[in-house]
Amino acid sequence: MKLEPSVTYSHTLLSNVVSENDIVVDGTVGKGNDTEFLARLVGNQGKVYGFDIQKEAIQKTQERINQNNLNNQVKLINDGHENISNYVNDNIQAAIFNLGYLPGGNKEVITLPETTLKAIQSSLSLLSIGGIVIIVLYYGHPGGEIEKEKVLSFVQSLNQKQYAVLKYEFINQINCPPILIAIQKNDNH
Ligand SMILES: C[S@@+](CC[C@H](N)C(=O)[O-])C[C@H]1O[C@@H](n2cnc3c(N)ncnc32)[C@H](O)[C@@H]1O
Repeated sequence: MKLEPSVTYSHTLLSNVVSENDIVVDGTVGKGNDTEFLARLVGNQGKVYGFDIQKEAIQKTQERINQNNLNNQVKLINDGHENISNYVNDNIQAAIFNLGYLPGGNKEVITLPETTLKAIQSSLSLLSIGGIVIIVLYYGHPGGEIEKEKVLSFVQSLNQKQYAVLKYEFINQINCPPILIAIQKNDNH
């Protein structure tokens, strides 16, 4: 057994809570790695709502989804994740946010604290009991540290009776390895 990096651990957690027919959100589509992973978990009767503000990310991911015959269960939306509630009305089983900038893309287009927090709050209000919201925090880039602090301060303030909040982090690595936050909605919510 090898301890998993945050990015793969996010998929391990998702595969434990997401089943066929579920409705889920990918809040930062990027190259579509999480979108494709979620699309396979929910199957062709489920639904993945994917958001990205960059048209190119949406277009490229749509091609990827089409090539893999997953378009029945994926709806990609070229809008900010802060507007999730304009598009998603159902309860969701999971949401994932990979924050920061798109590797290989425009490093100036980054997720921002205010919109990130709004998106996390919207996702929590749509979340089913037992469902999880995952946030992968990258903080090595300009602006990343502020976002990290704001997100951590918000998630630490969540009522423990309503949510279980996990922070997963390698603490002896250089170059700011991403931190994973997982928030699960409790039974007695
Ligand atoms: C770290 S990348 C995501 C990587 C992605 N999960 C993947 O599998 O490739 C962050 C993405 O967030 C997007 N983004 C930035 N602000 C956003 C917002 N307000 N709403 C939705 N997406 C946003 C960027 O355009 C970028 O593609």
